[in-house]
Amino acid sequence: MLELRDVEAGYGPFRSLFGVSFTVREQSVTALLGSNGSGKTSVVRVCCGLVEPTAGKLLYQGKDVTGSRAYRLARMGIVHAPEGRSVFGSLTVEENLALTFRQLFGRRGAKGALAKAYELFPRLGERRRQSAGTLSGGEQRMVSLARVIVHAPKLLITDELSLGLAPVIIDEVYETLATIRDAGTSLLIVEQRVRQALTLADDVVVMAKGRVALAGRTDELGDLGDRIMPAVQGETLPDAG
Ligand SMILES: Nc1ncnc2c1ncn2[C@@H]1O[C@H](COP(=O)(O)OP(=O)(O)OP(=O)(O)O)[C@@H](O)[C@H]1O
Ligand SMILES: [Mg+2]
Repeated sequence: MLELRDVEAGYGPFRSLFGVSFTVREQSVTALLGSNGSGKTSVVRVCCGLVEPTAGKLLYQGKDVTGSRAYRLARMGIVHAPEGRSVFGSLTVEENLALTFRQLFGRRGAKGALAKAYELFPRLGERRRQSAGTLSGGEQRMVSLARVIVHAPKLLITDELSLGLAPVIIDEVYETLATIRDAGTSLLIVEQRVRQALTLADDVVVMAKGRVALAGRTDELGDLGDRIMPAVQGETLPDAG
């Protein structure tokens, strides 16, 4: 689905990625783990076309898309879930969603998209008439996520989706991620919560200091689980994950 081949990238003179290679398989979930500053967000930016690699290649569905801009990759089906809680506080949940969906699908299509969003996030359905500004942070993030996933992206990339969310909300979000994976979307998820990520991941990539420190399939490498935590924690906080 998506392949990075010896990708190098950075910001001005500063290099943040060194020879990064890994693959996101079709209709599977790849968890991208690693301590703070290890390069996870830099990888995400490369995959979305927000940062151009200085060397190496990005392949998407077998095509070389190295250097393609974000809007082009988005059109090709790579969607990046925003970290923030980008809602209009004074509008209701339904008005927020309908605004986006009408732009995307027209007035008629918006109805179907709304139904789909409520199916994926029942909690939003229950709160459709509540003003979005009074939603909890986690619920606001669900609104943001609902906006992007009704596109049925081919590849959904999330960066620390669960950051700051209550466990019950995280579980709901993960259930939704599993649902869209089952519906045919591939996922690349950046997670601080290692155990949570492993409940869903088919493949794991652990970054350390801008390089891939460990990578493999969760069902093939028996001792992978034992090696992940030390790899992630190699240079990090004792309470990570
Ligand atoms: N815009 C930027 N300009 C300069 N350096 C940057 C920029 N963005 C990131 N970096 C540097 O690149 C390195 C990798 O950062 P990155 O954000 O990819 O890490 P991360 O794994 O996502 O970390 P975190 O878990 O804290 O989000 C860090 O040393 C960071 O300081
Ligand atoms: Mg980051």
